Amino acid sequence: MTPLAPERVVIVGTGYVGLVTGACLASIGNDVTCTDVDPKRVSALTRGSVPFYEPGLDDVIGRAVKAGRLAFAHASEPALESATVVFIAVGTPQAADGTADLSFVEAASADVAKRAPRGVVVVTRSTVPPGTGDRLAQRAREQGRADIEFVSAPEFLAEGTAVKDFLEPSRLVFGGSPEATRRVAALFSGIPESAPRILTDRRTAELSKYAANTFLAARVSLINEFANLADALGADVATVSRVVGLDPRVGPLFLRPGIGYGGSCFPKDVKAVLAVARAQGVDMRVAQAADRTNAEQWRAVLRKSLRLLDDAPRGKKVAVLGIAFKPGTDDTRMAPGTALMGALLDEGATVVAHDPKATLDAALAQRGAQQAKTALEAIHGADLVVLVTEWPEYRALPWHDARAAMRAPRLVDGRNHLDLPALRSLGFTAEGVGKP
Ligand code: UGA
Repeated sequence: MTPLAPERVVIVGTGYVGLVTGACLASIGNDVTCTDVDPKRVSALTRGSVPFYEPGLDDVIGRAVKAGRLAFAHASEPALESATVVFIAVGTPQAADGTADLSFVEAASADVAKRAPRGVVVVTRSTVPPGTGDRLAQRAREQGRADIEFVSAPEFLAEGTAVKDFLEPSRLVFGGSPEATRRVAALFSGIPESAPRILTDRRTAELSKYAANTFLAARVSLINEFANLADALGADVATVSRVVGLDPRVGPLFLRPGIGYGGSCFPKDVKAVLAVARAQGVDMRVAQAADRTNAEQWRAVLRKSLRLLDDAPRGKKVAVLGIAFKPGTDDTRMAPGTALMGALLDEGATVVAHDPKATLDAALAQRGAQQAKTALEAIHGADLVVLVTEWPEYRALPWHDARAAMRAPRLVDGRNHLDLPALRSLGFTAEGVGKP
């Protein structure tokens, strides 16, 4: 394949967003250098080692490197000096007041303004509050770089399916001046035309990203509220969810109830948009409720767990299946299971967790939580199993053997992932979320 656009692309930040963006842009024909300030990370990537688990990403990287379209470099190396388009994909951690901490984005932008050639386009790929692009442009002007165009091109990649989400997106959004957005959109010309390209202004692009995540988060919180109500009424939320989702105006996805949403995006982005709204004097009560409901949802699973332990958890062993915030990733950021495990430890229970990919939070390990190598090892001698992450392998466990290995066959399915009637017929006392 010949390069589709004669641009020299530099990605600043080889975290999750930066690395997927860089590797996939290279795989569709662009010339890309991914840079990072962490020398260890850069040398690991150069050796072909991907620093986190994302299905298919190592293949995409391997092929793009082999084709000579993807390289890695330390941020101080001269890559920016010849860049024509720079993607900023650095972290935007949450500050104490819920706002997004933009110091890494600002530093990256200032560095580009110092080093990149005239006419460079800077693309913010990190999720940033509306108005950030305008502010970065203003700062660049103050650095004497009125020539730099800033474009917002938010990502809609979900962990575990990021490569597919990049290569077969539901839409592409570019916000900025008509000329700059066209240049950035051209880098994505290897993406099927069936994906709508939305060229808009910067603030609208920035706001769209927050809106997309807040809508999805609110759906999850709303179905979780119905799950809690179904629990109280003895109704089945799975059927409720199916009935609601079959309405084409609603659609079936993101209506799975459970222990609540986690990850590095929904919790942080909902809080960030609330902070933006507060600063603008706008009341966003639905988004606020989505956030509050989610902050409490894991307690519904805790209450069920304690009840099954006869409200006497002290000294009992609880096997927790799943540590990652969702299956298909080793990411544990804001994983709802972390709060649950902490509370079980507080109650004096022994916690042994398992996850096919993720590692137990160091703070939990310090407090005595353990991680077993296999799910059956975690379950061995347990008084209760709590499923927190819906990994497919948990469905395929030999539940008959698991039952025999437990001290008492009790189970809470925090994701409605398992076949509860089948478990009950094996002798389990088993509860889901919003299941009669
Ligand atoms: C999310 C969005 O889905 C992406 O489109 C977006 O690009 C990304 O955030 C981001 O901003 O970077 P991600 O956080 O990887 O992606 O994970 P999701 O698959 O969206 O799941 C988020 C949380 O919601 C998980 O904890 C998941 O278990 C939970 N969830 C999801 C439910 O509890 N029920 C559902 O029906 C769906």
